[in-house]
Amino acid sequence: MPAIHLLPDLLINQIAAGEVIERPASALKELLENSLDAGATDIAVQLEGGGIKLLRVRDNGKGIAKEELPLALLRHATSKIASLDDLQRVASMGFRGEALASMAAVAQLALTSRTAGDTHGWKVEAIDGRLNEPTPASHAPGTTLELRELYFNIPARRKFLKSEATEFAHCEETFKRIALSRPDVAFSLQHNGRSVWQLPVQPLAARIAAILGEEFGQAAVPIFHHAANLSLQGLAALPAYSRSSREAQYFFVNGRFVRDKVASHALRQAYQDILHHQRHSAFVLFLELPPEQVDVNVHPAKSEVRFRESQGIHQFIFHTLQQALAAPAQSVSTTEPQRPAQQPPIQQNIGLGIAQSGAAYQLGYGELEVGSRKWENHPSTSLCTPYSPLPTSHSPIPPLGFALAQLSGIYILAQNAQGLVVVDMHAAHERIVYEKLKAAMDARQVTTQPLLIPVSFYADALDVATTEAEQTALGALGFDLVPLSPNTLAVRAMPALLKQSEAEVVARAVLGELREFGASRALTERRDKLLATLACHGAVRANRILSITEMNALLREMEQTERSGQCNHGRPTWFQLSMNDLDKMFMRGK
Ligand SMILES: Nc1ncnc2c1ncn2[C@@H]1O[C@H](COP(=O)(O)OP(=O)(O)OP(=O)(O)O)[C@@H](O)[C@H]1O
Ligand SMILES: [Mg+2]
Repeated sequence: MPAIHLLPDLLINQIAAGEVIERPASALKELLENSLDAGATDIAVQLEGGGIKLLRVRDNGKGIAKEELPLALLRHATSKIASLDDLQRVASMGFRGEALASMAAVAQLALTSRTAGDTHGWKVEAIDGRLNEPTPASHAPGTTLELRELYFNIPARRKFLKSEATEFAHCEETFKRIALSRPDVAFSLQHNGRSVWQLPVQPLAARIAAILGEEFGQAAVPIFHHAANLSLQGLAALPAYSRSSREAQYFFVNGRFVRDKVASHALRQAYQDILHHQRHSAFVLFLELPPEQVDVNVHPAKSEVRFRESQGIHQFIFHTLQQALAAPAQSVSTTEPQRPAQQPPIQQNIGLGIAQSGAAYQLGYGELEVGSRKWENHPSTSLCTPYSPLPTSHSPIPPLGFALAQLSGIYILAQNAQGLVVVDMHAAHERIVYEKLKAAMDARQVTTQPLLIPVSFYADALDVATTEAEQTALGALGFDLVPLSPNTLAVRAMPALLKQSEAEVVARAVLGELREFGASRALTERRDKLLATLACHGAVRANRILSITEMNALLREMEQTERSGQCNHGRPTWFQLSMNDLDKMFMRGK
């Protein structure tokens, strides 16, 4: 047996690289994390040949001083931790001082950097693990790291790389994960000279929509839960948006994308009852906890973590999600409420999964809330009385007719003089709420409804500051929103036209606008867009069973509302099928 001997440095680094730099995407991840650790606010990625031929990351971070350039490429050289204590509460993405050394061992590497104080940059190159002396180079403050021909010196590994397209797809996925985690940083990605992503600094919701699509944002509920020193926030899609793979599952622990068994299990369980077992949920969630409660030094690619209190974390994630996912289901509840004793007889029942004519539900416009919570103080119309009678055969027939039934929780079927009217109830109601909000704003008379119990929610420092600064604008929009603590806001009153159960969501929508565009734009050129968003939250949701009286009230409101023929997105809200049309369908009289 040969005598024991030390391995040469290059070989040690190549072995380490096998673990850390599996493919171009893993190199990209390490480079992006280094740029974020350096405080960059703008990061540009250029790839060629799926990242195998060239992988270049340029940032505007704090840079590396000339004397430290060679150190940055040495194994176990890091500026990020200095002691075991630090290792136990890692706050940066990197901490091993291994990534660049590994890359230098398996690719041709060039590192160019300039600190803020320098007049120009310096460049070092490493080929086959050997470093040259730094040479002057032109560079704006920040760093560019360039890797060429990954695994050029280890053909066995290079063979394991997949096609250019596959390697690029992995790089793009890595890019998206990191971009999702830092909406406060601008990112761009080019492949073979073609621009693929261009993401400005933007609010988290906008970043998520940019990456996962508007559709995801619309199908998702916001998650904001803060308890003791744990917090979970982000967006989780309702089951309607489920996917056939896990492609839209993003879970971050202290900003780091991870695949974690504890979290996955908790999330699966929360979706269990509402998702078909072959479908996958979609979410972007950020778990934050004190760094000492989570070990990130478990996996060479840092893609796994270990929680000190995994049981507690499981509970926290499961309960937060379960509640958030259940909340919308309550507002689209399909269970009929308790009927008052003296109820008029059921007059129509055509057996279509119908709302029967209870006529007993409170009919708040903007509220359409089942139950007796605020019957008295509701803005009432003649049709909003709890026992308003159904139309008799002597009543003149109004243009949109009288409701017959509700179909599949979506459409109202009504009969008018011409024949059958089909109404998309959410779209129609949304238009009504929108027009009413606009009229109220124009008249500077938004009716405000104080909440019996203020709704408080977690907010970041900017939300709190915006709330303090924009009290006048909030008041004009009908909100009484106040800070309760540096991280909590409370809605004390909101426009009566909107649903109280949506208090947090609508308050956040308003804050988001004020934060991003400022009060003057939010109240002028962007006003109608904002009101449309609010109207959407204020409108009755699909699957809410309406009573016949509620349906008739909605039809009457439509008749009185301008532009009620289209919803706020321009789609029709109702449709007429005349007796003639029906006769033709059935070939009657032929
Ligand atoms: N883009 C950058 N801007 C400024 N400094 C950088 C940049 N990239 C690397 N460095 C410096 O080089 C050092 C080595 O980077 P490297 O990625 O090898 O290790 P690390 O980030 O400390 O730990 P890890 O191996 O866990 O990533 C870093 O500690 C940092 O000081
Ligand atoms: Mg690093």
